[in-house]
Formats: sequence, C-alpha cells, structure tokens
Amino acid sequence: MKIASGLQGIVVTETTLSRVDGDAGALVLRGHRVEALAEAASLGEVCGLMWRGDRGAGPAIEHRLGAARAAAHEMLPALGDALRAADGMDALRAAVGHLDGGAPDAAEAELPTIAGAVAVFAAAQSRLRRGLEPLVPDPAAPHAADLLRLFTGRADETSADALRRYLVTVVDHGMNASTFTARVVTSTGSDAVSAVVAALGALKGPLHGGAPGPVLDMLDAIGSPDRARARAWLEAELAAGRRIMGMGHRVYRVRDPRAAVLEAGVAKLAEAGRARDRLALAAAVEAEATALLKARHPDRALAANVEFMTAVILDAIGIDRRDFTPLFACGRVVGWLGHVLEQRREARLIRPRAHYVGPEPQAA
Ligand code: COA
Repeated sequence: MKIASGLQGIVVTETTLSRVDGDAGALVLRGHRVEALAEAASLGEVCGLMWRGDRGAGPAIEHRLGAARAAAHEMLPALGDALRAADGMDALRAAVGHLDGGAPDAAEAELPTIAGAVAVFAAAQSRLRRGLEPLVPDPAAPHAADLLRLFTGRADETSADALRRYLVTVVDHGMNASTFTARVVTSTGSDAVSAVVAALGALKGPLHGGAPGPVLDMLDAIGSPDRARARAWLEAELAAGRRIMGMGHRVYRVRDPRAAVLEAGVAKLAEAGRARDRLALAAAVEAEATALLKARHPDRALAANVEFMTAVILDAIGIDRRDFTPLFACGRVVGWLGHVLEQRREARLIRPRAHYVGPEPQAA
C-alpha cells in the first residue's frame, strides 16, 4: 500500500480560485497574476474575484465590508473574555466562534460579515493586549486602510498601500492546510463560520501561518547586514537541529513569487525613506540562508517563502510581530470563504482513509 504522507502531490479537487506553479514560481488568482493584483487591486475587488469571479463588484463589496466592520465593533462588548486571550490566534478563534453560524447553505451575503469581523476582532485583540482601547471602524474607508488604522491608530497612504498589497498577496494559495481544513468542514454540510474557525486553528501552526514572527526574531538576533555574522547565526541554528524560518516551501521549488511581490512593497517603503536597514538586513540573511540550505540539500531548492518578506513589510508599517499571524488570517479568510462556496457546489464529503498498523485482537 502506498501512503501519500502529508498528502503531498495528491490532487483532491478542481478549483477556479488559484493556481500555484511550484516549478515556475507562479501564482494565478482566478486568471490574474498575483503580481498584477498586488500592484493595484483593492481588497473588495479581490473579494469580488474570489467570491463571484467578478472583480468589478469591488466597490459594492468594500461598502459591505465597511458595514460589517461597524457591526463587528458593536459586538465587542458581548465577546466577554474571548479577546483577552494572550495569543491573537486563540482570541480570533474564540471571537469568530461567537458569530452566528447561519444556515450551511447561506448565500454569499454572509461572507463580508465574516471577513469584516475577522479584521475587527484581530485589531481589537491587538489593542487590548497592548493596553489600548479598540478603535471605532470607519465604514467609508477602504478595508485595508481602515484595518491598518484599527491596529496602529494611523494609516498614511504608503503604509495603507503596503498593507493592501500584503492582504491581496496572501488571499489564496491552492490547497494549503487551512484552506483544505475549511473545505473538509464545509464538505460535512457545516456552516461558513465553523469552516473559518477550523481554518484559523490550522493557520496558527508555525509550519503554516506562524512563521513571520520568528523570522523577525531571527532578523533581530542577527542584527546587521554583515554576511559573516548572518552565516554564523544560521549555522548555529541548523547545527541545533532547528529550521530556518521563512525558508522552504512544500510546493515551490524556486523562490516563492509572493516574496518578490512583498519585496517590491518593501522597496516602495524604502523609497519613502522607511525600512531601508531592514531591507538590507533581510537581503543579507536571505542570501546566506539560501546558500547554506543549498549546501545541505543540493537536490532540494529551499528558498525564501512568503513569510520571510511578510515579516519585513509588516514590521515596517508598525505592526507588532505578535499580530502577524492574525493579519495573515485577515487576508486569507477571503480565500477560505471562496473555497467554502466552491466546496458547497461540489457537495461531496471529503473522507480519505488511513492504513491501520495497530495491534489486531488476540485469538481466543
Ligand atoms: N530550514 C532548514 N531545513 C529545512 C527547511 C528550513 N526552513 N525547510 C526544509 N528543510 C529541510 C527538511 O528538514 C528536510 O530535511 P531532511 O530531508 O534532512 O529531513 C529537507 O529540507 C526537505 O524538506 P521538505 O520535504 O521540502 O519540507 P516540507 O515540504 O515538509 O516542509 C516547510 C515545507 C515550509 C514546512 C518547511 O520548509 C519549513 O519548515 N520551513 C520553515 C517554516 C516556514 O517558513 N513556514 C512558512 C511556510 S509558507
């Protein structure tokens, strides 16, 4: 019996939402290259694309996201201690669990409600954790700009555009672990809130969404763009049997294209006089990490993934590293919800098998 460990290479469904080409290093979101969307699309436009295949629905969806943020803010007092959890993902999972699950076949109308709530709850937990009061959403602002303000208290145009770029870049990425989780839950006939709560649990893990915080810890520990220093630090990590965070990917055999998209965003911030030191440090660490991993695994290209540059771009716009994974959820929830709709249409229970290797009952 052949066991598909980690389900690697197994194709479980057809999707119209995204195509990940691991050999060429390309990501297409419903007919659009991620590079093109990241350049200019609003989050509402990308929701339109993922939920309806209609980018033109963007302004209407931005409007509904605004209303959803306002409604979610009204819910905050009723969430009790859910947002007081020390970990942002624990808080998000508990808070989103307060949303009404609705009918399992509820129409697309519920989707902005969920996406808006994830954003508001994530920002509120961040502020409460830092001893600050949650801010009131501005329903008329673009989703990305308002989200940045809800987290940091300010949103200049350059930073808001950087966050928009980040959110658009991480919206969907093939059958990743959290998306698969959302589809498994949906396949049982369950509702979209349950699918998102489960997906949040999957995203929390460091092998999926939890890496960018440790990437920043690594950049801090190395501290300067001195290549010899970076090499010594990375060698010690590997010698201790630890993985280099932000490097390697299950699907990509080349550099993750999203790393380049985010790097372009960091370059824009650097043009505006921000994050220059970080960019130089990140480049030095990436170069050394790539070379070291190539020497260890000559047959397996291990290059920078999305989380490597996520750490740099989010740090540069004033996001606390403990909020990186919840912010990832604010973008990826758009993709999860697109997959919920797709899975509902497929209407087929996902139910693989396991090969039993436990003991057999003793003969009498
Ligand atoms: N640092 C050090 N070694 C790594 C590594 C990393 N970041 N990524 C992979 N490797 C090693 C593995 O240990 C394995 O070595 P072995 O054969 O001696 O056991 C070898 O490279 C092949 O690994 P692979 O099968 O390609 O890994 P995977 O597909 O199971 O894992 C990740 C992919 C993303 C989980 C893995 O690369 C990783 O843990 N990266 C760091 C965490 C991270 O950045 N996550 C965010 C992903 S977007």
